[in-house]
Amino acid sequence: MSPSPLPPGSTIGIIGGGQLGRMAALAAARLGYRVHIYCPEPDSPAAQVAAAATVAAYDDPAALEAFARAVDVVTFEFENIPADSVRLLASHVAVHPSWRVLEVAQDRIHEKRFFNDNGIATPPWRRVDGPAALHAAVAEIGRPAVLKTTRFGYDGKGQVKIGPGDDLEAAWAALAAPEAVLEGFVDFAGEVSVIVARGVDGGCAVFDPAWNVHTNHILDTSRVPAPIGPDLAAAAVDLAERCAVTLDLVGLLAVELFVTRDGRLLANEMAPRPHNSGHWTIDACVTDQFEQFVRAVCGLPLGSPERHSDAVMKNLIGAEIDTWPDILRDPGAKLHLYGKTEARAGRKMGHVTRLTPRRDP
Ligand SMILES: Nc1ncnc2c1ncn2[C@@H]1O[C@H](COP(=O)(O)OP(=O)(O)O)[C@@H](O)[C@H]1O
Ligand SMILES: [Mg+2]
Repeated sequence: MSPSPLPPGSTIGIIGGGQLGRMAALAAARLGYRVHIYCPEPDSPAAQVAAAATVAAYDDPAALEAFARAVDVVTFEFENIPADSVRLLASHVAVHPSWRVLEVAQDRIHEKRFFNDNGIATPPWRRVDGPAALHAAVAEIGRPAVLKTTRFGYDGKGQVKIGPGDDLEAAWAALAAPEAVLEGFVDFAGEVSVIVARGVDGGCAVFDPAWNVHTNHILDTSRVPAPIGPDLAAAAVDLAERCAVTLDLVGLLAVELFVTRDGRLLANEMAPRPHNSGHWTIDACVTDQFEQFVRAVCGLPLGSPERHSDAVMKNLIGAEIDTWPDILRDPGAKLHLYGKTEARAGRKMGHVTRLTPRRDP
């Protein structure tokens, strides 16, 4: 028997205050829930649309405890929260996804081990903890390669590419981290991601794979359907679903994959939360990723992830936000802005989705 669902009117606590929390809070509000955001930044995109907000550090025990007592369930839009903080929250209130899931997703080495242990191929990789280990790893993996911090990386931050002539001491120093992973650089045909929702009863609902194009290591566009053919699409969906089941995840899991030129899938990373490459679902699916997230975390039945349209989602990064008046003049464009005032370079300010009638290949 599944635990009884959290009824509308209850309060969902969300750790993290960015645009993912904002869009989750909007979806929660549509289903009659209240949302309480916890993050260190004042006036965060999520807090602007939430019923309540706590502004405190992720390792402030008194604030975490008060937050846990004020909400009926806790989830995350940001997974880099300390283990002790999650333990403290979980001693007071249900937390989805569980600490075990966050632990795997917080650390690139745990993540790659998880993939490989479950028969999922990744680019070749080695753990690196200093210049000597980096020399040995480059000798084994070859160049080009990418050196990544094991923790806290996002949008290409915490990554150094190692090309033919690059100095390894300098690369290690540039990373400025105690531990890293060296990965073989994949000359991929493209990148796809799959987002799966898993409910408390163990049932899964999977969105169609999205075809993702990055510019400067930041997602630029996501397109559905992904031009990868039905067999590879089915393999990607199956892979993501197996990850969610093996992790016993309740919530959402996004799995990022490289598609090799000879048609294989290599797992890059995963995130146990809504994902930028799923924003197209808001406008193109019966149930979008944020509503699915709320449903999973509250123990409600999952909705249909069916896609009714083809879609292209474009991120509005930094100064691209200035095009908003033109976007609004395009009658087919769906504009989503995140309420951020300062359009710093590389900052995700909003996105726009354009739909076309669904045309199955
Ligand atoms: N091993 C690799 N080979 C080729 N491209 C890579 C590799 N690792 C990362 N990239 C590129 O950089 C992007 C960001 O890297 P990723 O590991 O997903 O980190 P994050 O998204 O946390 O910044 C990837 O989506 C991909 O475009
Ligand atoms: Mg990534």
